[in-house]
Amino acid sequence: MREYRITGGRPLAGQLTVQGAKNSALPILAATVLAEGESVIHNCPRLSDVSATLDILSLLGCRVSQEGNTVRVDASTLRENCVPDRLMGELRSSVTFLGALLSRCGGAELSYPGGCQLGPRPIDLHLMALRLLGAQVLEEGGRLICRSPEEMRGQELCLSIPSVGATENAMLAAVGCRGVTTIVGAAREPEIEDLQTFLRAMGAEVEGAGSSVIRIVGGKELRPAQHTVMGDRMAAATYLCAAGAAGGCIALSGVETSHLTAVLSVLEEAGADIHTGERTISMACTAPLCGVRPVRTAPHPGFPTDAQAPLMAALSCGTGTTMFVENMFLSRYGHVGELARMGAEIQVDGRVAVVTGRRLHGASVRGRDLRGTAALVVAALAARGESRVSGVPYLLRGYENLEGDLRALGAQIQLV
Ligand code: EPZ
Repeated sequence: MREYRITGGRPLAGQLTVQGAKNSALPILAATVLAEGESVIHNCPRLSDVSATLDILSLLGCRVSQEGNTVRVDASTLRENCVPDRLMGELRSSVTFLGALLSRCGGAELSYPGGCQLGPRPIDLHLMALRLLGAQVLEEGGRLICRSPEEMRGQELCLSIPSVGATENAMLAAVGCRGVTTIVGAAREPEIEDLQTFLRAMGAEVEGAGSSVIRIVGGKELRPAQHTVMGDRMAAATYLCAAGAAGGCIALSGVETSHLTAVLSVLEEAGADIHTGERTISMACTAPLCGVRPVRTAPHPGFPTDAQAPLMAALSCGTGTTMFVENMFLSRYGHVGELARMGAEIQVDGRVAVVTGRRLHGASVRGRDLRGTAALVVAALAARGESRVSGVPYLLRGYENLEGDLRALGAQIQLV
């Protein structure tokens, strides 16, 4: 079993260019099936979730190639609309093939998606949106069989929760519907804006992404397009938390500062000295982070649930007390027990976790999901002595080169 061996206590220093965003690249890759011809996606991170998505595209009949961070997908040869269970189960974002394939072929057959275990992750809103647009969705033996016996038509869709995945699926299906679709209560995450940019480059008429109402005039002829994936705000947040935990001074580029407002303001409140340009962030921490006002996770532009675990790790090795309230997922404190092995003092009651900062020590710990494992790495960078962090496959889903990046910043970390 692979694990990271980390010797903590070294401040971080240096500059990094942040990778392309996983949660942007995945739905954009699914969207490439919408048009015949070759789409080219730049700044696509090399991750296991991206590889699984490329496997799905190949299996559907697309010609796929990857060179460095550029991916080419030629969907002229698409011949299938079924995705096997094995590939569906590899990642959450596989579900966006539902909307994309319905648009392109008028049908899709796949199963429930995988992804990190964070408590129940239903797809009822995805299916509700597709049904309202005119798709028939049958569930047989765990498979979802979607058809559009009649032409799908634009509708007003109201999402009761601003679900990122349901918004993406509705957008992908709506570009193939005749008429106007309005998504009310849409997710406002920056990744939705990136998807809109790609769809527009393909010739789709979409507006409003980034706000809670997205309007799509469907039925336009789509063409393949080129796109550069935005920077990964969660990878950036992880590196900032790492520097907050270990101390030091780092500079990040390649990520929109405005995508990180909530994270930066908490780190500043905790004592970090932060300077931002349009796409650069520098952060210096000369003293341990201190406790902050309650951190409540919320849909964008609120504090992102994906940054909860890394921030908790950073504050658990600081000073003072902080209360976290996880409002997005029912079970996203899998890292807490492992942080406790390193000496962290964290009390959990349901959605609430109260962290009291103290000096951590090295330990052998096991990651259980992507951001939770990243949090263990963050804590290990600050802990006295050596830690062993397992759960490497989770990290490879979301971080292109966590080990190399942290080493470049001076961390003592090795994959063994
Ligand atoms: C996306 O997941 C991200 N994944 C997650 O990142 C992120 O944590 C999450 O959005 C929230 O920001 C990808 O983009 C691939 P949601 P998604 O649908 O789309 C409930 C990471 O570490 N809900 O916005 O699955 C749901 O249970 C990952 O990179 C329904 O009830 O999130 C949850 O409580 C982990 N019914 C809430 O909405 C539905 O049909 C938000 O989920 C859909 C969602």
